[in-house]
Amino acid sequence: MARSDADRWNARYAEQEETDSEPIPFLVDRAEGLGSGKALVLAAGTGRNAVYLAGQGFDVTALDVSSVGLEKCRRLADDRGVRIQTLCADLEAFDLGESEYNLITKIYFYQPSLFPSIRRALKPGGRFFFQTFSRKHAEVGTFGPKNPDYLAHQAAVIEPFTDDRIRYYEETVEETDADREATIRMIAERR
Ligand SMILES: C[S@@+](CC[C@H](N)C(=O)[O-])C[C@H]1O[C@@H](n2cnc3c(N)ncnc32)[C@H](O)[C@@H]1O
Repeated sequence: MARSDADRWNARYAEQEETDSEPIPFLVDRAEGLGSGKALVLAAGTGRNAVYLAGQGFDVTALDVSSVGLEKCRRLADDRGVRIQTLCADLEAFDLGESEYNLITKIYFYQPSLFPSIRRALKPGGRFFFQTFSRKHAEVGTFGPKNPDYLAHQAAVIEPFTDDRIRYYEETVEETDADREATIRMIAERR
């Protein structure tokens, strides 16, 4: 029997001794332009981005299918002295609601079938913040996924938001001493 997403990610997070606690740089760079209010952090993992947004004053719900990840997320929030709500749910079978959030983030979790429900769950004027590996990552990446189903491309990312305002779009290749990754970054504002 195939392992569920929850089982796989619970096992992975249980093995990890250290939690990646720093937000992605793109979120820090753009935080000022993301507004304020209710934020939903999808596939929040161990909470590095959720906790950062709570520190910026957002009322944050961190959603993930992994209870082990969310436990680490709560610990990180306590360590940093911020409050967040956690929600253990499978995004394949969860209703995000309608016009609920000022900000929704989706970081390193692609699943393009979710874009229409994300759009619906944003308040008018609310922002969708997105970063994940792009198709170019299959050629140049030194870690992470190579399967094209998990790699974003421009048409799939932009098309669901054609009635909205694309505030930011960028495709990048970044290299450190150890690694190289190719990503797509987007911020869309619901009209
Ligand atoms: C690569 S991690 C990214 C975590 C976080 N966004 C970050 O950048 O630190 C992908 C996350 O997606 C979560 N995930 C996978 N399938 C999911 C599903 N069906 N519903 C909700 N979360 C899911 C995993 O538990 C994991 O925490």
